Amino acid sequence: MKEFSKIIFNLEDIYSRAKKDILEAKTQEDLKRILKKYLGKEGEVRSFTKMIKKFPPQERKETGRKINIIKNEIEKILSKKEKIVKKSKRFEGKKIDVTAPGKKIERGHLHPLTLVKKEVEEIFQSMGFSVVEGPEIETEWYNFDALNIPKEHPARDMWDTLWLKEDKLLLRTHATPVDVRYMEKHNPPLRIITVGRIFRHEATDFSHEINFYQLEGLMVDENISVANFKAVIQEFLKRFFKDKKIQMRLRPSFFPFTKPSFEIDILYERNKEKKWIETLGAGMVHPNVFLAAGLNPKQWQGFAFGLGLDRLAMIKYKVPDIRLFYSGDLRFLYQF
Ligand code: PHE
Repeated sequence: MKEFSKIIFNLEDIYSRAKKDILEAKTQEDLKRILKKYLGKEGEVRSFTKMIKKFPPQERKETGRKINIIKNEIEKILSKKEKIVKKSKRFEGKKIDVTAPGKKIERGHLHPLTLVKKEVEEIFQSMGFSVVEGPEIETEWYNFDALNIPKEHPARDMWDTLWLKEDKLLLRTHATPVDVRYMEKHNPPLRIITVGRIFRHEATDFSHEINFYQLEGLMVDENISVANFKAVIQEFLKRFFKDKKIQMRLRPSFFPFTKPSFEIDILYERNKEKKWIETLGAGMVHPNVFLAAGLNPKQWQGFAFGLGLDRLAMIKYKVPDIRLFYSGDLRFLYQF
């Protein structure tokens, strides 16, 4: 029995020494050494295990239990300390420079379509155009009738329309109604552009969305011809694509509100391959449109043009799918 209490006393002494060692340990190596010293094959705790073999059965049991408790305790505090040492290792050798400037917090930035809108507006403003706006909910009159597209006219099928329940109201299918609204209230000479959202009742794919942005332009004066139009557009494309030699071509086309009408393609290089890309619709304002807006078509001439802002942004930034602009995907947006 005397032997027994001596062992217990020694065990407790081992435990408190181990605890102190662990507390003072600073590195992984220190901890390894402590593990070996107390719990290793030749370790202090182990030597007791060997010793109790000679004890009578009852004492053996009791001492064995005590040894196990001590062993588990030491293991527990060892592994706790190990975590702490590992953590502090990450900062080892790293000095903290308290005078260094703080990390920059990322600020929000503009959407690619907003960037293109701003740039387009700046270019046209520098050519004497005013930037104007019109409503997204339109009447049938401004979206169609005033633009020389009466009811039942097959040309209405060119624009798949989202009608509202309210009488004869719709989501504008293009930005051309803004031209009529402006001409009603202002006397020529006029030079305006508008950049706004438009809506089409269409199936979506990589180049079609049900809502997108259009740039519409209008210039009205005496003696305006297609030559004026070409000059303005050429200048715009040159500046927008930062390419002095950008090539464009006019193709005959049809719009009810212009006569003659054309489509303009630009020659664009992609993957070392040059391709004509259809970029805008345009033409000389139809006399019926002047009449609907209260202007005398014998006195005034003008040109109008419309193009998809998204298309412009897709060419400029090489974006393969129009739907990316509206997806809210940050991986896409962070690139601008
Ligand atoms: N509004 C036409 C469209 O959306 C484009 C256009 C504008 C054509 C002005 C000619 C003149 O398709």
